[in-house]
Amino acid sequence: MLLGSAPIAGAFPVHGHQTVLPAGTELDEDALDQPREIFRSEAAGGVKSYLVRLGDMAFNAPSLLGDVARRAGISCNTCHNNGAGNERLYIPGLSTRPGTFDTTGALFNPRADNGLLDPLTPPSLRGARLLAPYGHDGRTASLREFVRSVIVGEFAGPEPSPAILDALVAYIQDIDFLPNPRLAPGGRLAAGAGEAERRGEALFSKPFPHDPGLSCAACHLPASAFVDHRQHDVGSGGLFKTPTLLNADFNAPYFHDGRYDSYAQVVAHFDRVFDLGLAPRDRQDLVAYLTAIGDGVRPYERDSVNARLRELNDFASVLDTAITTNDRAVIDLTVETVGGELRELTEAFPDRKDTTVTGGEEERALARAALKELVLELRRIDAAAVAGNLDAAAAAYMNYRKLMAATVPKLLHAAEPWSLFNPAIHDAHYGTLRQMLQAAEMPSR
Ligand code: HEC
Ligand code: HEC
Repeated sequence: MLLGSAPIAGAFPVHGHQTVLPAGTELDEDALDQPREIFRSEAAGGVKSYLVRLGDMAFNAPSLLGDVARRAGISCNTCHNNGAGNERLYIPGLSTRPGTFDTTGALFNPRADNGLLDPLTPPSLRGARLLAPYGHDGRTASLREFVRSVIVGEFAGPEPSPAILDALVAYIQDIDFLPNPRLAPGGRLAAGAGEAERRGEALFSKPFPHDPGLSCAACHLPASAFVDHRQHDVGSGGLFKTPTLLNADFNAPYFHDGRYDSYAQVVAHFDRVFDLGLAPRDRQDLVAYLTAIGDGVRPYERDSVNARLRELNDFASVLDTAITTNDRAVIDLTVETVGGELRELTEAFPDRKDTTVTGGEEERALARAALKELVLELRRIDAAAVAGNLDAAAAAYMNYRKLMAATVPKLLHAAEPWSLFNPAIHDAHYGTLRQMLQAAEMPSR
Protein backbone atom coordinates (compact mmCIF):
# COMPACT_ATOMS: atom_id res chain seq x y z
CA MET A 1 0.00 0.00 0.00
CA LEU A 2 1.26 3.45 -0.86
CA LEU A 3 0.93 4.95 2.58
CA GLY A 4 2.03 2.26 4.92
CA SER A 5 -0.63 1.51 7.48
CA ALA A 6 -3.32 3.91 6.29
CA PRO A 7 -6.38 1.91 5.29
CA ILE A 8 -8.55 3.08 2.44
CA ALA A 9 -11.72 4.47 3.92
CA GLY A 10 -13.73 7.61 3.77
CA ALA A 11 -13.02 9.27 7.08
CA PHE A 12 -9.97 11.35 7.88
CA PRO A 13 -9.04 10.76 11.47
CA VAL A 14 -5.31 10.40 11.26
CA HIS A 15 -4.85 8.33 14.37
CA GLY A 16 -7.95 6.24 14.91
CA HIS A 17 -9.47 3.39 13.03
CA GLN A 18 -10.87 5.13 9.97
CA THR A 19 -13.90 2.90 9.49
CA VAL A 20 -15.56 3.77 12.83
CA LEU A 21 -16.39 7.31 11.74
CA PRO A 22 -18.53 8.31 8.76
CA ALA A 23 -16.90 9.20 5.45
CA GLY A 24 -15.98 12.86 5.29
CA THR A 25 -15.02 13.14 8.97
CA GLU A 26 -12.46 15.85 9.73
CA LEU A 27 -10.72 15.89 13.10
CA ASP A 28 -7.86 18.20 12.05
CA GLU A 29 -5.32 16.02 13.84
CA ASP A 30 -2.67 16.57 11.20
CA ALA A 31 -2.47 20.36 11.68
CA LEU A 32 1.14 21.49 12.05
CA ASP A 33 0.14 24.54 14.07
CA GLN A 34 -1.43 23.52 17.35
CA PRO A 35 -3.12 25.81 19.89
CA ARG A 36 -0.70 26.90 22.58
CA GLU A 37 -1.63 25.72 26.05
CA ILE A 38 -0.43 27.44 29.18
CA PHE A 39 -0.79 26.32 32.76
CA ARG A 40 -1.26 28.44 35.84
CA SER A 41 1.07 26.22 37.85
CA GLU A 42 3.90 26.69 35.36
CA ALA A 43 3.32 30.39 34.79
CA ALA A 44 4.32 31.00 38.41
CA GLY A 45 7.62 29.24 37.73
CA GLY A 46 6.38 26.07 39.36
CA VAL A 47 5.77 22.62 37.96
CA LYS A 48 2.56 20.80 37.18
CA SER A 49 1.36 18.62 40.04
CA TYR A 50 0.88 14.87 39.72
CA LEU A 51 -2.87 15.43 39.57
CA VAL A 52 -2.62 17.93 36.69
CA ARG A 53 -0.30 15.66 34.69
CA LEU A 54 -2.62 12.72 35.29
CA GLY A 55 -5.60 14.82 34.18
CA ASP A 56 -3.76 15.95 31.04
CA MET A 57 -2.95 12.33 30.20
CA ALA A 58 -6.56 11.22 30.81
CA PHE A 59 -7.78 14.14 28.69
CA ASN A 60 -5.80 12.59 25.83
CA ALA A 61 -6.97 9.02 26.49
CA PRO A 62 -9.55 7.71 23.98
CA SER A 63 -10.28 4.67 26.17
CA LEU A 64 -11.64 7.02 28.86
CA LEU A 65 -14.61 7.72 26.58
CA GLY A 66 -15.62 4.12 25.94
CA ASP A 67 -15.44 1.69 23.10
CA VAL A 68 -16.54 3.69 20.06
CA ALA A 69 -14.28 6.61 20.97
CA ARG A 70 -11.39 4.25 21.61
CA ARG A 71 -11.73 2.67 18.19
CA ALA A 72 -12.16 6.07 16.55
CA GLY A 73 -9.16 7.46 18.44
CA ILE A 74 -11.25 10.31 19.85
CA SER A 75 -10.36 11.79 23.24
CA CYS A 76 -11.40 14.98 25.04
CA ASN A 77 -8.40 16.57 23.35
CA THR A 78 -9.79 15.88 19.85
CA CYS A 79 -12.52 18.48 20.38
CA HIS A 80 -10.88 20.68 23.02
CA ASN A 81 -7.51 20.74 21.28
CA ASN A 82 -4.86 21.58 23.91
CA GLY A 83 -7.67 23.15 25.89
CA ALA A 84 -8.76 25.39 22.99
CA GLY A 85 -11.62 24.51 20.61
CA ASN A 86 -11.45 22.77 17.23
CA GLU A 87 -12.88 24.96 14.52
CA ARG A 88 -12.43 22.34 11.80
CA LEU A 89 -14.04 19.41 13.65
CA TYR A 90 -16.66 17.92 11.33
CA ILE A 91 -18.42 14.57 11.65
CA PRO A 92 -21.13 14.00 9.02
CA GLY A 93 -24.44 13.37 10.74
CA LEU A 94 -23.20 15.00 13.95
CA SER A 95 -22.04 18.38 12.63
CA THR A 96 -23.92 21.01 10.65
CA ARG A 97 -20.78 23.00 9.91
CA PRO A 98 -17.07 22.79 10.78
CA GLY A 99 -16.44 23.43 14.47
CA THR A 100 -19.65 21.80 15.74
CA PHE A 101 -20.62 18.45 17.25
CA ASP A 102 -23.96 17.01 18.36
CA THR A 103 -23.45 15.79 21.92
CA THR A 104 -26.92 14.22 21.81
CA GLY A 105 -26.38 12.13 18.67
CA ALA A 106 -26.43 8.33 18.42
CA LEU A 107 -22.88 7.50 17.28
CA PHE A 108 -21.20 7.33 20.68
CA ASN A 109 -24.18 6.66 22.91
CA PRO A 110 -27.51 5.64 21.32
CA ARG A 111 -29.22 6.29 24.65
CA ALA A 112 -28.12 9.93 24.62
CA ASP A 113 -29.73 10.46 21.19
CA ASN A 114 -32.50 13.07 21.34
CA GLY A 115 -33.48 12.48 17.72
CA LEU A 116 -32.45 15.99 16.70
CA LEU A 117 -29.43 17.26 14.82
CA ASP A 118 -28.55 20.04 17.27
CA PRO A 119 -24.77 20.38 17.27
CA LEU A 120 -22.86 22.76 19.52
CA THR A 121 -19.36 24.19 19.42
CA PRO A 122 -16.81 22.60 21.77
CA PRO A 123 -15.98 25.61 23.96
CA SER A 124 -12.41 26.61 24.65
CA LEU A 125 -11.48 25.54 28.18
CA ARG A 126 -8.97 28.35 28.70
CA GLY A 127 -9.84 29.97 32.00
CA ALA A 128 -12.72 27.49 32.46
CA ARG A 129 -12.33 27.66 36.23
CA LEU A 130 -13.76 31.19 36.01
CA LEU A 131 -16.60 30.31 33.66
CA ALA A 132 -19.19 28.33 35.63
CA PRO A 133 -21.90 27.21 35.13
CA TYR A 134 -20.94 24.67 32.47
CA GLY A 135 -22.41 23.75 29.11
CA HIS A 136 -23.54 26.44 26.68
CA ASP A 137 -26.88 26.43 28.45
CA GLY A 138 -25.14 26.59 31.84
CA ARG A 139 -27.06 23.56 33.08
CA THR A 140 -24.36 22.28 35.47
CA ALA A 141 -22.83 24.32 38.28
CA SER A 142 -20.07 21.83 39.06
CA LEU A 143 -17.20 21.26 36.64
CA ARG A 144 -16.65 17.81 38.14
CA GLU A 145 -20.28 16.81 37.58
CA PHE A 146 -20.18 18.16 34.01
CA VAL A 147 -17.04 16.17 33.16
CA ARG A 148 -18.53 13.00 34.62
CA SER A 149 -21.66 13.45 32.51
CA VAL A 150 -19.57 13.97 29.36
CA ILE A 151 -17.82 10.64 29.93
CA VAL A 152 -20.74 8.53 31.10
CA GLY A 153 -23.70 10.28 29.46
CA GLU A 154 -22.49 11.64 26.14
CA PHE A 155 -19.97 8.94 25.33
CA ALA A 156 -21.20 5.91 27.28
CA GLY A 157 -17.71 5.58 28.73
CA PRO A 158 -17.09 3.49 31.85
CA GLU A 159 -17.67 5.23 35.19
CA PRO A 160 -14.40 7.08 35.87
CA SER A 161 -12.70 6.58 39.22
CA PRO A 162 -12.96 9.53 41.64
CA ALA A 163 -9.18 10.00 41.28
CA ILE A 164 -9.38 10.33 37.49
CA LEU A 165 -12.29 12.77 37.77
CA ASP A 166 -10.36 14.87 40.28
CA ALA A 167 -7.39 14.83 37.94
CA LEU A 168 -9.42 15.94 34.90
CA VAL A 169 -10.88 18.79 36.94
CA ALA A 170 -7.45 19.80 38.28
CA TYR A 171 -6.07 19.79 34.73
CA ILE A 172 -8.93 21.88 33.32
CA GLN A 173 -8.65 24.33 36.20
CA ASP A 174 -4.94 24.73 35.50
CA ILE A 175 -5.45 25.80 31.86
CA ASP A 176 -5.06 29.55 31.75
CA PHE A 177 -6.04 32.23 29.29
CA LEU A 178 -3.22 33.30 27.00
CA PRO A 179 -1.86 36.62 28.26
CA ASN A 180 -3.12 39.69 26.42
CA PRO A 181 -0.97 42.81 26.78
CA ARG A 182 -3.72 44.89 25.15
CA LEU A 183 -5.73 44.48 28.38
CA ALA A 184 -5.06 46.17 31.72
CA PRO A 185 -6.24 44.82 35.08
CA GLY A 186 -10.01 45.05 35.51
CA GLY A 187 -10.60 44.30 31.84
CA ARG A 188 -9.89 47.87 30.70
CA LEU A 189 -8.01 48.55 27.47
CA ALA A 190 -4.30 49.04 28.15
CA ALA A 191 -2.49 52.28 27.35
CA GLY A 192 -1.67 52.50 23.66
CA ALA A 193 -5.05 51.30 22.43
CA GLY A 194 -6.21 52.90 19.16
CA GLU A 195 -9.01 55.43 18.70
CA ALA A 196 -11.47 52.89 17.28
CA GLU A 197 -10.83 50.47 20.14
CA ARG A 198 -11.42 53.25 22.69
CA ARG A 199 -14.68 54.28 21.03
CA GLY A 200 -15.66 50.59 20.97
CA GLU A 201 -14.93 50.32 24.69
CA ALA A 202 -17.23 53.26 25.39
CA LEU A 203 -20.01 51.76 23.23
CA PHE A 204 -19.59 48.43 25.00
CA SER A 205 -20.76 49.91 28.29
CA LYS A 206 -23.30 52.36 26.83
CA PRO A 207 -26.91 51.55 27.86
CA PHE A 208 -29.04 50.05 25.07
CA PRO A 209 -31.50 52.70 23.77
CA HIS A 210 -34.60 50.55 24.33
CA ASP A 211 -33.37 48.59 27.37
CA PRO A 212 -31.45 51.14 29.47
CA GLY A 213 -30.74 48.47 32.09
CA LEU A 214 -28.72 46.56 29.50
CA SER A 215 -25.39 47.10 27.80
CA CYS A 216 -22.85 44.70 26.39
CA ALA A 217 -20.84 45.18 29.58
CA ALA A 218 -23.85 44.42 31.80
CA CYS A 219 -23.63 40.77 30.73
CA HIS A 220 -19.98 40.58 29.67
CA LEU A 221 -18.52 42.11 32.88
CA PRO A 222 -15.03 43.35 31.95
CA ALA A 223 -13.68 42.94 35.49
CA SER A 224 -14.97 39.38 35.68
CA ALA A 225 -13.45 37.66 32.61
CA PHE A 226 -16.32 39.22 30.59
CA VAL A 227 -18.94 36.86 32.05
CA ASP A 228 -21.78 37.19 34.58
CA HIS A 229 -22.29 33.44 35.23
CA ARG A 230 -25.90 33.77 34.04
CA GLN A 231 -28.05 32.52 31.19
CA HIS A 232 -29.84 34.92 28.87
CA ASP A 233 -32.07 34.83 25.83
CA VAL A 234 -30.26 36.98 23.29
CA GLY A 235 -32.44 35.87 20.41
CA SER A 236 -30.32 32.85 19.51
CA GLY A 237 -32.95 30.22 20.23
CA GLY A 238 -33.03 29.76 23.99
CA LEU A 239 -31.21 30.46 27.21
CA PHE A 240 -27.42 30.37 26.99
CA LYS A 241 -24.70 31.41 29.37
CA THR A 242 -22.73 34.55 28.67
CA PRO A 243 -19.48 33.35 27.07
CA THR A 244 -16.14 34.92 27.90
CA LEU A 245 -14.65 37.32 25.38
CA LEU A 246 -11.06 36.68 26.53
CA ASN A 247 -8.99 34.95 23.84
CA ALA A 248 -12.22 34.82 21.84
CA ASP A 249 -10.34 35.86 18.67
CA PHE A 250 -9.43 32.15 18.50
CA ASN A 251 -12.87 30.78 19.42
CA ALA A 252 -14.76 31.08 16.11
CA PRO A 253 -17.27 29.97 15.06
CA TYR A 254 -19.35 31.99 17.53
CA PHE A 255 -22.55 31.37 19.52
CA HIS A 256 -23.56 27.98 20.95
CA ASP A 257 -24.23 26.51 17.51
CA GLY A 258 -21.35 28.19 15.72
CA ARG A 259 -23.69 30.15 13.45
CA TYR A 260 -21.37 33.16 13.09
CA ASP A 261 -17.87 33.24 11.63
CA SER A 262 -16.91 36.76 12.64
CA TYR A 263 -17.34 39.47 15.26
CA ALA A 264 -18.97 41.62 12.56
CA GLN A 265 -21.79 39.07 12.29
CA VAL A 266 -22.14 38.87 16.08
CA VAL A 267 -22.36 42.65 16.40
CA ALA A 268 -24.95 42.74 13.59
CA HIS A 269 -26.96 40.15 15.53
CA PHE A 270 -27.07 42.26 18.70
CA ASP A 271 -27.79 45.39 16.67
CA ARG A 272 -30.78 43.64 15.08
CA VAL A 273 -32.14 41.79 18.13
CA PHE A 274 -31.83 44.70 20.58
CA ASP A 275 -32.56 47.39 17.99
CA LEU A 276 -29.39 49.29 18.87
CA GLY A 277 -29.37 51.54 15.79
CA LEU A 278 -25.61 51.25 15.39
CA ALA A 279 -24.00 53.30 12.62
CA PRO A 280 -21.51 51.46 10.38
CA ARG A 281 -18.64 53.15 12.24
CA ASP A 282 -20.07 52.05 15.62
CA ARG A 283 -20.10 48.44 14.43
CA GLN A 284 -16.50 48.72 13.23
CA ASP A 285 -15.49 50.24 16.56
CA LEU A 286 -17.11 47.40 18.50
CA VAL A 287 -15.34 44.87 16.29
CA ALA A 288 -12.02 46.65 16.86
CA TYR A 289 -12.65 46.56 20.60
CA LEU A 290 -13.66 42.87 20.62
CA THR A 291 -10.55 42.03 18.58
CA ALA A 292 -8.35 43.85 21.10
CA ILE A 293 -9.82 42.28 24.23
CA GLY A 294 -10.06 38.86 22.55
CA ASP A 295 -6.39 38.75 21.59
CA GLY A 296 -3.70 36.51 23.12
CA VAL A 297 0.05 36.11 22.84
CA ARG A 298 1.31 33.40 20.45
CA PRO A 299 -1.97 31.50 20.06
CA TYR A 300 -0.40 28.67 18.05
CA GLU A 301 2.72 26.58 18.33
CA ARG A 302 4.49 24.57 15.67
CA ASP A 303 4.25 20.84 16.25
CA SER A 304 7.69 19.27 16.49
CA VAL A 305 9.68 16.36 17.88
CA ASN A 306 10.43 18.47 20.95
CA ALA A 307 6.77 19.31 21.56
CA ARG A 308 5.85 15.61 21.31
CA LEU A 309 8.69 14.54 23.61
CA ARG A 310 7.68 17.10 26.19
CA GLU A 311 4.10 15.83 26.18
CA LEU A 312 5.13 12.15 26.24
CA ASN A 313 7.41 12.78 29.21
CA ASP A 314 4.67 14.65 31.04
CA PHE A 315 2.21 11.81 30.50
CA ALA A 316 4.61 8.96 31.28
CA SER A 317 5.82 10.72 34.43
CA VAL A 318 2.60 9.78 36.24
CA LEU A 319 3.93 6.20 36.21
CA ASP A 320 6.43 7.30 38.86
CA THR A 321 3.69 7.74 41.44
CA ALA A 322 1.33 5.12 40.00
CA ILE A 323 3.91 2.32 40.24
CA THR A 324 4.98 3.33 43.73
CA THR A 325 1.38 3.31 44.94
CA ASN A 326 0.46 0.28 42.83
CA ASP A 327 -2.40 2.17 41.19
CA ARG A 328 -3.34 -0.37 38.54
CA ALA A 329 -6.06 1.75 36.92
CA VAL A 330 -3.65 4.62 36.33
CA ILE A 331 -0.85 2.30 35.14
CA ASP A 332 -3.24 0.74 32.60
CA LEU A 333 -4.55 4.05 31.33
CA THR A 334 -1.05 5.51 31.04
CA VAL A 335 0.40 2.51 29.23
CA GLU A 336 -2.48 2.48 26.76
CA THR A 337 -2.50 6.24 26.19
CA VAL A 338 1.25 6.76 25.95
CA GLY A 339 1.48 3.64 23.78
CA GLY A 340 -1.10 5.15 21.42
CA GLU A 341 0.78 8.45 21.29
CA LEU A 342 4.02 6.62 20.55
CA ARG A 343 2.40 4.75 17.68
CA GLU A 344 1.08 8.03 16.29
CA LEU A 345 4.52 9.54 16.56
CA THR A 346 5.92 6.53 14.69
CA GLU A 347 3.62 7.44 11.80
CA ALA A 348 5.31 10.84 11.62
CA PHE A 349 8.41 9.03 10.34
CA PRO A 350 7.06 7.40 7.19
CA ASP A 351 8.51 4.04 6.26
CA ARG A 352 10.08 3.22 2.89
CA LYS A 353 6.73 2.29 1.36
CA ASP A 354 5.62 5.91 1.56
CA THR A 355 6.64 7.29 -1.82
CA THR A 356 5.85 10.88 -0.89
CA VAL A 357 9.07 11.05 1.16
CA THR A 358 12.55 10.59 -0.22
CA GLY A 359 15.79 10.74 1.73
CA GLY A 360 16.63 9.98 5.31
CA GLU A 361 15.43 6.40 4.95
CA GLU A 362 17.96 5.11 7.44
CA GLU A 363 17.20 7.87 9.94
CA ARG A 364 13.46 7.26 9.67
CA ALA A 365 13.89 3.53 10.17
CA LEU A 366 15.97 4.12 13.29
CA ALA A 367 13.42 6.56 14.68
CA ARG A 368 10.60 4.06 14.13
CA ALA A 369 12.61 1.29 15.75
CA ALA A 370 13.39 3.46 18.78
CA LEU A 371 9.71 4.27 19.26
CA LYS A 372 8.77 0.59 18.95
CA GLU A 373 11.28 -0.22 21.65
CA LEU A 374 9.57 2.31 23.93
CA VAL A 375 6.20 0.66 23.28
CA LEU A 376 7.71 -2.70 24.24
CA GLU A 377 9.13 -1.21 27.42
CA LEU A 378 5.67 0.09 28.30
CA ARG A 379 4.23 -3.40 27.78
CA ARG A 380 6.85 -4.75 30.17
CA ILE A 381 5.72 -2.23 32.77
CA ASP A 382 2.12 -3.30 32.33
CA ALA A 383 2.90 -7.03 32.38
CA ALA A 384 4.97 -6.65 35.54
CA ALA A 385 2.19 -4.64 37.20
CA VAL A 386 -0.40 -7.25 36.23
CA ALA A 387 1.83 -9.94 37.73
CA GLY A 388 2.05 -7.87 40.91
CA ASN A 389 5.80 -7.47 40.52
CA LEU A 390 6.29 -3.79 41.32
CA ASP A 391 10.08 -4.01 41.35
CA ALA A 392 10.09 -5.30 37.79
CA ALA A 393 7.61 -2.59 36.81
CA ALA A 394 9.83 0.07 38.37
CA ALA A 395 12.88 -1.37 36.60
CA ALA A 396 11.14 -1.33 33.21
CA TYR A 397 10.04 2.23 33.87
CA MET A 398 13.66 3.18 34.63
CA ASN A 399 14.67 1.67 31.28
CA TYR A 400 11.95 3.65 29.56
CA ARG A 401 13.19 6.85 31.20
CA LYS A 402 16.79 6.08 30.24
CA LEU A 403 15.84 5.62 26.58
CA MET A 404 13.84 8.84 26.70
CA ALA A 405 16.71 10.74 28.31
CA ALA A 406 19.16 10.49 25.42
CA THR A 407 18.92 7.78 22.75
CA VAL A 408 15.37 8.40 21.60
CA PRO A 409 15.53 12.21 21.35
CA LYS A 410 18.80 11.93 19.41
CA LEU A 411 17.35 9.49 16.87
CA LEU A 412 14.10 11.43 16.46
CA HIS A 413 15.91 14.72 15.94
CA ALA A 414 18.19 13.09 13.38
CA ALA A 415 15.13 11.94 11.40
CA GLU A 416 13.05 15.12 11.89
CA PRO A 417 14.04 16.74 8.54
CA TRP A 418 12.46 13.77 6.69
CA SER A 419 9.46 13.50 8.96
CA LEU A 420 5.93 14.87 8.78
CA PHE A 421 7.14 17.72 11.03
CA ASN A 422 8.77 19.10 7.88
CA PRO A 423 5.98 21.24 6.33
CA ALA A 424 6.83 20.33 2.71
CA ILE A 425 6.81 16.60 3.46
CA HIS A 426 3.74 17.01 5.66
CA ASP A 427 1.77 18.66 2.88
CA ALA A 428 2.85 16.15 0.23
CA HIS A 429 1.99 13.21 2.50
CA TYR A 430 -1.45 14.40 3.59
CA GLY A 431 -2.25 15.82 0.16
CA THR A 432 -1.79 12.37 -1.32
CA LEU A 433 -3.70 10.72 1.52
CA ARG A 434 -6.68 13.06 1.11
CA GLN A 435 -6.72 12.42 -2.64
CA MET A 436 -6.77 8.67 -2.05
CA LEU A 437 -9.63 8.99 0.41
CA GLN A 438 -11.62 11.13 -1.99
CA ALA A 439 -11.01 8.65 -4.80
CA ALA A 440 -12.12 5.82 -2.50
CA GLU A 441 -15.33 7.69 -1.68
CA MET A 442 -16.27 8.41 -5.29
CA PRO A 443 -18.06 5.16 -6.22
CA SER A 444 -20.49 5.41 -3.31
CA ARG A 445 -21.62 8.91 -4.28
C1 HEC B 1 -16.60 15.04 20.08
C2 HEC B 1 -16.29 16.32 20.68
C3 HEC B 1 -16.10 16.42 22.20
C4 HEC B 1 -15.39 15.58 23.02
C5 HEC B 1 -14.67 14.30 22.64
C6 HEC B 1 -15.44 16.16 24.33
N1 HEC B 1 -16.16 17.33 24.30
FE1 HEC B 1 -16.36 18.62 25.86
N2 HEC B 1 -17.66 19.68 24.74
C7 HEC B 1 -18.02 19.42 23.44
C8 HEC B 1 -19.15 20.23 23.10
C9 HEC B 1 -19.85 20.24 21.74
C10 HEC B 1 -19.47 20.99 24.25
C11 HEC B 1 -20.66 21.92 24.45
C12 HEC B 1 -21.68 21.01 25.10
C13 HEC B 1 -22.85 21.70 25.76
O1 HEC B 1 -22.92 22.91 25.78
O2 HEC B 1 -23.71 20.95 26.27
C14 HEC B 1 -18.50 20.62 25.26
C15 HEC B 1 -18.45 21.22 26.54
C16 HEC B 1 -17.50 20.92 27.49
C17 HEC B 1 -17.30 21.64 28.73
C18 HEC B 1 -18.07 22.86 29.20
C19 HEC B 1 -17.25 24.12 29.04
C20 HEC B 1 -17.98 25.37 29.39
O3 HEC B 1 -17.33 26.42 29.53
O4 HEC B 1 -19.22 25.36 29.54
C21 HEC B 1 -16.31 20.99 29.41
C22 HEC B 1 -15.75 21.36 30.78
C23 HEC B 1 -15.89 19.88 28.59
N3 HEC B 1 -16.62 19.88 27.42
C24 HEC B 1 -14.92 18.97 28.95
C25 HEC B 1 -14.70 17.78 28.24
C26 HEC B 1 -13.93 16.67 28.76
C27 HEC B 1 -13.23 16.62 30.09
C28 HEC B 1 -13.96 15.71 27.78
C29 HEC B 1 -13.39 14.31 27.86
C30 HEC B 1 -13.80 13.55 29.03
C31 HEC B 1 -14.70 16.26 26.66
N4 HEC B 1 -15.16 17.49 27.00
C32 HEC B 1 -14.87 15.60 25.46
C33 HEC B 1 -17.39 18.55 22.59
C34 HEC B 1 -16.59 17.50 23.01
C1 HEC C 1 -28.27 39.96 27.93
C2 HEC C 1 -26.87 39.59 28.06
C3 HEC C 1 -25.98 39.96 26.89
C4 HEC C 1 -25.79 41.18 26.32
C5 HEC C 1 -26.50 42.49 26.63
C6 HEC C 1 -24.77 41.01 25.31
N1 HEC C 1 -24.36 39.72 25.28
FE1 HEC C 1 -22.93 38.96 24.09
N2 HEC C 1 -23.55 37.13 24.53
C7 HEC C 1 -24.49 36.81 25.50
C8 HEC C 1 -24.84 35.42 25.38
C9 HEC C 1 -25.82 34.65 26.25
C10 HEC C 1 -24.10 34.91 24.30
C11 HEC C 1 -24.13 33.46 23.77
C12 HEC C 1 -25.26 33.29 22.76
C13 HEC C 1 -25.33 31.88 22.19
O1 HEC C 1 -24.44 31.07 22.48
O2 HEC C 1 -26.26 31.58 21.44
C14 HEC C 1 -23.28 36.01 23.82
C15 HEC C 1 -22.33 35.89 22.80
C16 HEC C 1 -21.48 36.91 22.42
C17 HEC C 1 -20.33 36.75 21.57
C18 HEC C 1 -19.85 35.43 20.95
C19 HEC C 1 -18.80 34.78 21.84
C20 HEC C 1 -18.62 33.33 21.54
O3 HEC C 1 -17.55 32.79 21.92
O4 HEC C 1 -19.51 32.69 20.96
C21 HEC C 1 -19.77 37.98 21.43
C22 HEC C 1 -18.52 38.33 20.61
C23 HEC C 1 -20.59 38.90 22.16
N3 HEC C 1 -21.59 38.20 22.78
C24 HEC C 1 -20.40 40.29 22.22
C25 HEC C 1 -21.39 41.14 22.68
C26 HEC C 1 -21.46 42.54 22.37
C27 HEC C 1 -20.46 43.31 21.51
C28 HEC C 1 -22.58 43.02 22.98
C29 HEC C 1 -23.17 44.40 22.91
C30 HEC C 1 -23.53 44.85 21.57
C31 HEC C 1 -23.17 41.90 23.70
N4 HEC C 1 -22.43 40.80 23.48
C32 HEC C 1 -24.31 42.02 24.49
C33 HEC C 1 -25.01 37.67 26.43
C34 HEC C 1 -25.09 39.04 26.21
